[in-house]
Parts: sequence; structure tokens; C-alpha cells
Amino acid sequence: MAQFLVRATRSSDLSAVRRLHAWARRVFANFGEEDLPGYVASQGPLYGWVAEDGGRLQGFLACTAKRAGWPEVRGLLLAEAWPSDDLMLALCGRAGADLRGLEAEGLVCLTSEDWLVTLLERAGFRVEERVISLRWQGASWTDATSDGPPVRLRLAQGSDLAALVALDDAAFDPIWRLDRPGISLYLVTTTHFVVAEQDGVLVGYAVTDARGSEAQIIRLAVHPTARRQGVGRRLLLDALAHARGENAETAILNTQASNAASQRLYHRLGFREVGKGLSVLVRRL
Ligand SMILES: CC(C)(COP(=O)(O)OP(=O)(O)OC[C@H]1O[C@@H](n2cnc3c(N)ncnc32)[C@H](O)[C@@H]1OP(=O)(O)O)[C@@H](O)C(=O)NCCC(=O)NCCS
Repeated sequence: MAQFLVRATRSSDLSAVRRLHAWARRVFANFGEEDLPGYVASQGPLYGWVAEDGGRLQGFLACTAKRAGWPEVRGLLLAEAWPSDDLMLALCGRAGADLRGLEAEGLVCLTSEDWLVTLLERAGFRVEERVISLRWQGASWTDATSDGPPVRLRLAQGSDLAALVALDDAAFDPIWRLDRPGISLYLVTTTHFVVAEQDGVLVGYAVTDARGSEAQIIRLAVHPTARRQGVGRRLLLDALAHARGENAETAILNTQASNAASQRLYHRLGFREVGKGLSVLVRRL
């Protein structure tokens, strides 16, 4: 049985990890090149681990802890196409132990890569859900007219953070919940973060990023007590209007294959499923 030394990465590993990235036989890199130094520095919310065998780098695992309690695997670089189960177990085991110390409940990975599903299953992950993508395929943007319930839409601001975290907790199942840093990040990095208020109370929010020809609707949530009153529809129409205003030609979003409510809403507004979707793998810690 091979003995691997697995440890958290440090900044001095960056060039070795970059070399591995260049020649690894298996590459899952769901991160921008500019984020790699952050993962390697392991300072949170980005974390990295390496596995060495006799001083030779065999693997690198990158996770982001932007979801409350459920860090996500965003990168796996493997020197061999089919590494031993020992290597995967050692990497995932060490990452799991370190993240449990940070109060993680489990690890999540979203992927369409069959090889990655196979390797993660061998390391104790289970496919628990599927995520599908839907693209807006309305005949023209003018379809997106807005009417609906007496809610006020306005841009989100920093002082909404506590209410947004509470709303997110109420709206989503645990593995999909964002924590405060995760929501803050969207506040500063996306082009349109809107909240819906009813009698001064925050009842919904939507996050859209519209740069380039395809806008991305990143998040849509309505508090359970305010559902089926048209708030979700209103937020989605506003997101589409923003996309159109930014000269996007279309818009795309993701949702769970099991989420019938959101799919009905998206279909009614002209979204249609595209691509083969992603498997959602979960490993409880
Ligand atoms: C999906 C979600 C945003 C819908 O918000 P909402 O305010 O309840 O939606 P609306 O009232 O605007 O509904 C618009 C249409 O969507 C469909 N719809 C919404 N909820 C539905 C449900 N529970 N069952 C079936 N259809 C539903 C209906 O077609 C509805 O129109 P109708 O009421 O005239 O039949 C909300 O259920 C939610 O926050 N869910 C949890 C988070 C989530 O799934 N986010 C999106 C995917 S990541």
C-alpha cells in the first residue's frame, strides 16, 4: 500500500502546483488561474492540500468554503489518470479533517466529468442531486414585461447582509446555503444584486451578473412565507431586464433537477434546459 504524505499547501508550493497543473493527467480546475495563489496559500475561504509520494507531487485538492458548513471542491489535479484509492482517500480524508475543524459538515462537488464522479465515489462521495442549466430562449427581450405583487425592488446594500443571510437560510437546503462572506462576495462582484421588500421586510433576492453576451442569473430566493405571490417571477423579470439593459443576448441559470417549483417558473418565462447538467456529489464528514 502506497504511503502518501498529505498536507495543507503553503505559498512556497505555488510553482510546484503550477507545474502539476501543466502536466497532470487529470485536471478538474473549476477556478480562475488568478485564484490559484489563494488556494495554495490556504488562508480561507480558499484552501489547498497536496499529496506527495517520495517527494514527488501526486495530487492537489482545492476547496472553497463560501457555503455555510459545506465547502466545495473546486479543483483536483492528479499526476496519474487513475490514481490509487489510497491517494484519493488520503487527500479527501486530510481535507475533511481540516475542514471539520472549521465546522464543515461535509464536502460538495459539482461536476459533469465522469472520471471525477468515479474517483470521488471511490473516496466516499455519493451523488445526491443533479443540477441542470436553463437558458432563456424567449422570442425577444420584449417578452419580459413586469407586473406582479406589491413588493418594492431595490438594489441590495451592505446593511442588508444579516437579513440576507437569514433569508438564504430559510429559503435553501443546507448544502446550498451561503454564509455571510459568500453573500458579501456577490454584493461586490456582480452587476445586479436586488432585494424584494414587502412592508419593509426583506422577502426575496436575486443576483445577476451581466457582462458579455450571456448574462448569468446566479441566485434567486423567496422566503417560504412569501411564496406563490409572484415575488420570484417579479425578481426574475427584473434580472432579465437588467441583462437586456447590459446588451446581453441571452441569460443562463442553474437549478436542482428535483426543484419543480423553480423549473416551472423558469419554463413559464421562456427558459429551456441546455447541456448535460452536473452531478452533485456529497461526502459527509
Ligand atoms: C423558486 C422560487 C424562487 C419561486 O418563488 P415564488 O415567489 O414562490 O414564485 P412565484 O410566486 O413568482 O411563482 C411564479 C410561477 O412559478 C411556478 N411556481 C412557483 N412555485 C411553485 C411551486 N411550489 N409549485 C409549482 N409551481 C410553482 C408557478 O408556475 C408560478 O406561477 P403561478 O403561481 O401563477 O402558478 C421559490 O420557491 C424559492 O425561493 N425556492 C427556494 C430557492 C430556489 O429554489 N431558488 C431557485 C433555484 S436555485
